[in-house]
Amino acid sequence: MCGIFGYTGRKEAQPLIIQGLKHLEYRGYDSSGVAIQNGLYSIAFEKTRGKIKNLEEALRRHPLGGHTAIGHTRWATHGTPNQLNAHPHLDNENKIAVVHNGIIENYAHLKEKLKKSGARFRSETDTEVIVHLIAKYYRDDLESAVRRALKDIRGTYAIAVICSKEPGRIVAAKLDSPLVVGIGDKENFLASDVSALLEHTNQVIFVENGDLIVINRDSVKLTNLSGRPVHRPSVKVDWNVAQAKKGGFPHFMIKEIFEQPGIVTAILRERIRNAKIHFDELKITASEFKKIKKIVVIACGTAYHAGLVGKYILEAFADIPVGVDTSSEFRYRNPKVGKDTLVIAISQSGETADTLAGLREAKAKGALTLVICNVLASSLSREAGGVIYTHAGPEIAVASTKAYTAQLALLYLLGFYFAGIFKTLPNSKMRKLLKEFFQIPSKMQRILELYKREETEWAKNAHDFNKRYHAQLEKYFSTDPLKRKRSPNGFFLYLGRGINFPNALEGALKLKEIAYIPAEGYPAGEMKHGPIALIDENPWVICIAPASGTYEKMISNIQEIKARGGIIIPIITEGDNQMRKLNPLYSIEIPRCSELFSPLVTVLPLQLIAYCAAREFGEDIDQPRNLAKSVTVE
Ligand code: F6R
Repeated sequence: MCGIFGYTGRKEAQPLIIQGLKHLEYRGYDSSGVAIQNGLYSIAFEKTRGKIKNLEEALRRHPLGGHTAIGHTRWATHGTPNQLNAHPHLDNENKIAVVHNGIIENYAHLKEKLKKSGARFRSETDTEVIVHLIAKYYRDDLESAVRRALKDIRGTYAIAVICSKEPGRIVAAKLDSPLVVGIGDKENFLASDVSALLEHTNQVIFVENGDLIVINRDSVKLTNLSGRPVHRPSVKVDWNVAQAKKGGFPHFMIKEIFEQPGIVTAILRERIRNAKIHFDELKITASEFKKIKKIVVIACGTAYHAGLVGKYILEAFADIPVGVDTSSEFRYRNPKVGKDTLVIAISQSGETADTLAGLREAKAKGALTLVICNVLASSLSREAGGVIYTHAGPEIAVASTKAYTAQLALLYLLGFYFAGIFKTLPNSKMRKLLKEFFQIPSKMQRILELYKREETEWAKNAHDFNKRYHAQLEKYFSTDPLKRKRSPNGFFLYLGRGINFPNALEGALKLKEIAYIPAEGYPAGEMKHGPIALIDENPWVICIAPASGTYEKMISNIQEIKARGGIIIPIITEGDNQMRKLNPLYSIEIPRCSELFSPLVTVLPLQLIAYCAAREFGEDIDQPRNLAKSVTVE
């Protein structure tokens, strides 16, 4: 939620800030702004509503010169997305400017007090209180004023502050919102995440909660809120700038979809050595794991769906009961976890506020905690008892794809790891399964090749769908009562069973978030308990039906839909003639693989369907409306 970028050095700051904000735009994109020290009494700034290209355009007309600047891209929490509410926010005299990611909980109270002492508020945001507080405490020392102001604030923040009276200096602070310092050669940077820094440096300092940072052109100083120096090591990150670019693909989402077979292969190579699973960074010992009697997985969105697949995997491999909860439910439910429980948090960003709160709740109850996470040194990975990194590289598209398959791959490996500890699978079976696992990336690759070969066909199908969909909407909303149909308008139902049921949820989520088409995921066996009432010739039913132990049951469920005039699009194993007899609208064939590993394969067509539909509808695929990549607010 919201991206922050800061620069101080010899170069012109404006283009660097714009470039940095573009890398962070996935975090929020309803408005943006920049504040620059230009050597005058007051700070120069520009803010615009909408995407960063609007800010860029405004700055092209009125460039701001200077070598120290802060920028912000916003995902609105308090106050509508407009120019006034965009960051930076400035004090009465425009000599101090602040950008902020997080939420100030006691802002209303502070605002009233500050107004009484003369602060003139220009926005509806919670953030603006920060700058007026800093101005109130400012006595020619920005660092002390920020430190003092933060004592009055309750909430979460990553902030960056500049003052026209202190050239070349940025003061920043962090509490529960991400912030990274990038170390350059006679220049230093601040950013909400590493991907925005890679153009300039891969030498970074991961700032911790409670740190206050002062960066100048050739120094970085870290202290705690009481002013005591703190030491944070500078780390070399192994992500590279190419990973944070589209690399010839039209969108990050499709690039990331295509990266998946390579990522799963890399995970297998990294983690399996001498037929043993290695989690070098884990920190939890086998004897600690041996004490657990149950596992609870907590996560949100796509990561939650990975957790649901994880339940099937871990129960099958490790023979241990596994519960799965959305983090936002878990944290408020007084969950029954304790010393005998392993709580696994799954998160791409490692910053999701609900998952972080869930993890803290689990720790407070004495549970052993482990996080599966993509972003190095994220809040979750720092707070959990143990960590396993997915190493999928930066995921830039807001809709998660490669992080999901990477999470699944790690859950399989964790299953093998536990099977080794709990002795739940004979070695011969483990070897057989591992051998099978190694073949999965090439099966994933075959689907992507099929898509590349038949891209025009996929686009044609999406176009055909678009036409039918709009015809359906017309019928539904027609003012002519004879034409109007009393039935739901065009929507998608995704059905799956067993280990592929979570993919039904995931396919529906992808379609909703990037193509804005109503979609529901359902366990196919549940259809007859209600949702079948929706079936007529309107909904499009995507049936995830690879060869499996419940294939015959799935066929019966599909027959029930066909019998009521439903349109079916099955995802089937190649060579499946039985499904063809049901006369599907289209069918998508996947290579034959065991049911256990099939979610890694069946999810690819689901991601591609959503991508093609969103592209056909002309939607902003990488930055869907109302969403942000990491949800650091409740
Ligand atoms: C869906 C999506 C979101 C995230 C969710 C959790 O495509 O991206 O549903 O999966 O916000 O985010 P992380 O994994 O960062 O905790």
